[in-house]
Amino acid sequence: MNSSSTYEGSGNNTDLIRVHGRLFKPYISKAQIDSRIAELAAQISIDYSGLRPLFVAILNGSFIFAADLFRALSIEAEISFIKLASYKGTSSTGQVVTAIGLEERLNERHVIVLEDIIDTGKTLHAFLPEIRQRNPSSLKIASFLLKPSCLKYDVHADYFGFEVPDQFVLGYGLDYDGLGRNLPELYTLVAE
Ligand code: IMP
Ligand code: MG
Repeated sequence: MNSSSTYEGSGNNTDLIRVHGRLFKPYISKAQIDSRIAELAAQISIDYSGLRPLFVAILNGSFIFAADLFRALSIEAEISFIKLASYKGTSSTGQVVTAIGLEERLNERHVIVLEDIIDTGKTLHAFLPEIRQRNPSSLKIASFLLKPSCLKYDVHADYFGFEVPDQFVLGYGLDYDGLGRNLPELYTLVAE
């Protein structure tokens, strides 16, 4: 099996990794992520106590965040998944495609949409009307990351993990052309 095209230590700095030929460095540690997820889950558990919220996680990127956040909740809750795509490589392609729809009835449900990162906001701007049409009792957004300097659409996260600068990030569910989602911590692209 040839593993040389995926993650390699680079020279004498073993913290750097190479993915699809690009160099990434550690950015937010697993411990920082874990403690922030615990805070978010505690807050959501207070805000939604007795409401049995329905989480709608957007695949693929949010699956790790969704799994960790969902397990950390101390209240009754449900989760479902939807698959959209609006991103290829390191810059937005601008298309938003619904690949797998949502089967649950949303009326009289308290819905929390889970996203990996809000970059331009285009994905959520395009997708949220679909949710609103189904008349949920309430609708909020929880995003693991925000890139506020890239926001181009009127999309507001009610809960978020971290704000990041306008740099490509990788790991904890986020990919670079399909790779890197399984990295337990967050990495950022190194300019070469
Ligand atoms: P938006 O529609 O521009 O807000 O982009 C949202 C989607 O773009 C996210 O769900 C990610 O899949 C992807 N994305 C945006 N920024 C990054 C990044 O820095 N690394 C990996 N994926 C990203
Ligand atoms: Mg992606």
